[in-house]
Amino acid sequence: MRKKALITGITGQDGAYLSRLLIDKGYQVHGIVRRVALEDPEHRLWRLKPILNKIKLHAGSLESYASLFNIVQKVKPDECYHLAAQSFVSYSFEDEFSTINTNINGTHFILSALKERAPKCKIYFAASSEMFGHVREIPQTENTPFHPRSPYGISKVAGFELTRNYREAYNLFACNGILFNHESPMRGYEFVTRKITLGVARIKAGLDKELRLGNLEAKRDWGFAGDFIEAMWLMLQEKKPDDYVVATGETHTVRRFVELAFDYAGLDWKKYVKQDKVLFRPAEVNQLIGDYSKAKRILGWKPKVKFEELVKMMMDEDLRRVKCQKQF
Ligand code: GDD
Repeated sequence: MRKKALITGITGQDGAYLSRLLIDKGYQVHGIVRRVALEDPEHRLWRLKPILNKIKLHAGSLESYASLFNIVQKVKPDECYHLAAQSFVSYSFEDEFSTINTNINGTHFILSALKERAPKCKIYFAASSEMFGHVREIPQTENTPFHPRSPYGISKVAGFELTRNYREAYNLFACNGILFNHESPMRGYEFVTRKITLGVARIKAGLDKELRLGNLEAKRDWGFAGDFIEAMWLMLQEKKPDDYVVATGETHTVRRFVELAFDYAGLDWKKYVKQDKVLFRPAEVNQLIGDYSKAKRILGWKPKVKFEELVKMMMDEDLRRVKCQKQF
């Protein structure tokens, strides 16, 4: 019988890559989406468009235990990937209550529903390097203490602990993937890498004159989303559930990303980039760099796409999109 996977957050970048991977592996893929997404597929399901006929979508909400419970009961998944969250760190400062409520309760609800209705299901929780925040050591490993610096980071620490507790208390096969930043041409426009590559492509096409950014000195360990979702799947194929850092082991400033992207388009970034204080965060995570040696040793995983290739891949796609559809 085909294995069944249930993905929350299937409409996002990671959900889109993961669905493709699982379809290729022969899984029956189910996803939970908000009802509004089903009513407006053109805008909200664009990343899933090429595979819509190969997946089954269920209307539900992270805010409703009943909806998650009913979907779990209906699908009875073998594997569940809980990716859904309010995932934009900046926004979490503006609306801390909804970020904390949705992210923590959503994780609690899905864990509880799985425990009640599919206790054999293997569970992946999308934890985050944002949990390290004001980092206590460099590089960060599975043993580095957490010091989150945003409501989003706090919500992910709570989700991490809930997942671990469900594993220890109820014997669920529940894993935390501590993923560092991961990007792609399917990244949302609010995140800095995509904001930069789209911004550069628009400037190149004469559609914009400047690109406004916040802190250029923050350092991130940026990998390719297509590589990182493989680690999610590998975690659930192990004999024992555990927690893993997934990263590239390299760190670069936002400024470096900007330089490479403008260079690629043959433009001098200093002429176009304006720093805007409004875009700085009240508390910043200054430096992230992950040590993925545990994932390498146990899962046999390592990143394939290098930083420079990632910038090029995103630039190529945005230059192409802007060229053929001026509305971007
Ligand atoms: N978004 C954004 N927009 N970020 C900016 C800008 C800007 O105009 N200017 C500078 N930055 C800086 C931010 O201050 C931050 O230091 C860095 O760019 C990266 O910001 P984001 O791309 O928004 O990502 P993030 O690091 O906050 O969070 C992402 O990675 C996490 C994993 O570490 C998100 O994907 C999270 O959901 C994820 O958990």
